[in-house]
Amino acid sequence: MNICCIGAGYVGGPTMAMIAKQCPDINVTVVDINEQRILAWQTNELPIYEPGLLEVVQESLGRNLFFSCDIDKAIYNADIIFVSVNTPTKTFGEGAGRASDLQYWELCARRIKKVSESDKIIVEKSTLPVRTAEAMERVLHSEDNKVHFEVLSNPEFLAEGTAVADLNNPDRVLIGGHETPSGKKALELLIQIYARWIPRDKILTSNVWSSELSKLTANAFLAQRVSSINSISALCEATGADVAEVSHAIGTDSRIGSKFLQASVGFGGSCFKKDILNLVYLCETYGLKEVAEYWQQVVEINEYQQTRFTKNIIKSMFNTIAGKKIVILGFAFKADTGDTRESPAIRICKELHAEKADLVISDPKAILNAKDDLSELSNVIYEEDPYEAAKDADAIALLTDWSTYNNLDFQKLYEIMRKPAFIFDGRNILDHKNIFNLGFEVYSVGKGRLSHLN
Ligand code: UDX
Ligand code: ADP
Repeated sequence: MNICCIGAGYVGGPTMAMIAKQCPDINVTVVDINEQRILAWQTNELPIYEPGLLEVVQESLGRNLFFSCDIDKAIYNADIIFVSVNTPTKTFGEGAGRASDLQYWELCARRIKKVSESDKIIVEKSTLPVRTAEAMERVLHSEDNKVHFEVLSNPEFLAEGTAVADLNNPDRVLIGGHETPSGKKALELLIQIYARWIPRDKILTSNVWSSELSKLTANAFLAQRVSSINSISALCEATGADVAEVSHAIGTDSRIGSKFLQASVGFGGSCFKKDILNLVYLCETYGLKEVAEYWQQVVEINEYQQTRFTKNIIKSMFNTIAGKKIVILGFAFKADTGDTRESPAIRICKELHAEKADLVISDPKAILNAKDDLSELSNVIYEEDPYEAAKDADAIALLTDWSTYNNLDFQKLYEIMRKPAFIFDGRNILDHKNIFNLGFEVYSVGKGRLSHLN
């Protein structure tokens, strides 16, 4: 069997590497229009940073896993085509800022239609608005119907930083297919592939629309939990409660559960915001104004939380940060990834820069992306070494939960910084009492301030 995957990004690359590893008898070819990316997948410097991924890729590379720019050949030879191209939020026209931009997806569908001479199963891997499969089927089956294309939805639930573990041992795999004989046959074929390493009871099936909507809903629910606890963090700061204690107390209720209740500077990543905006747009399209407004609020709280963090920095530093050196510890949207898409650090840095702060950005994996994201800002310094970055700094703002930040020598940092030295912990991962006792002014999300000044 030949599998082709169009799109060698965060989803396509790792997912196909896992299928190739688990199914040595299946040839998997990952194609992309980006030649640099395709080359990088075949080196020791993968185009994305993901713990454990290099080993998984190298196990099958050249055996049954191939990366190529010859998109047409891979499509032509494939029995199953996964489509995992990017579906960013539209920046123009109808639905701008909310709807998904499906131009890349449609281009793929047209390409598949043009090149194919045998029946194929098309698997939607990219996150897509509900009923995309229907639109794609129309593109695929337009004009003649020499070749049959069976479209399945198989959303990817992997999280960055834990992609390998998530692919190896997922909570579930969801496959949506049509209730027709050919739909059922295609569904069964894809089940057979996943069943090589995933227990059957974890492979869920549904109709195509339910599968598409489940992906959006799962991300909306996860993001909603983060916004919910972040909204409570503002109340904690106003009233003197400790958000970590509140999270713990409510998380022990088995109906609520303890995961995704970590107050922070806000959620980032390529999925949450995009998927919620998509959901909002969908609701509006179907005339469900109240439902749309309900979900829109999850995004608004997220932006409020980021701006609130900036405002707290300014207020704590005597209402002016002009000319003050602020070190950003962590630019990635979360730990263990170099990805900075929608990272809260982007907005916070722009806000701090607008107040004329001198920014130094430090991150173990995301410096290159940070440079891109902040290219319009002048006088920003990039320094991977936190100690170099902190020399003569007035403040540290910790924005990513890299575990290495817990092991920093805060005594040393305190000594090399200007006084009073401030730490703003946007992830609540530091030992606040300890760093306060070293002399720092400490602010953390949802826990209020520890100050020597009053
Ligand atoms: C998410 C979904 O988890 C995954 O299933 C889907 O396939 C893609 O989107 P990802 O974006 O990689 O994955 O990261 P995730 O771990 O979900 O975190 C998203 C954001 O929320 C990060 O910025 C993270 O720091 C933040 N977060 C998460 C919090 O602020 N608090 C929490 O308690 C949990
Ligand atoms: P995701 O996080 O959803 O995987 P990425 O942006 O990381 O998104 O990856 C999507 C990939 O799809 C990119 O490498 C991009 O070059 C590729 N891509 C987009 N359009 C096409 C296309 N028409 N043909 C082949 N590859 C494409």
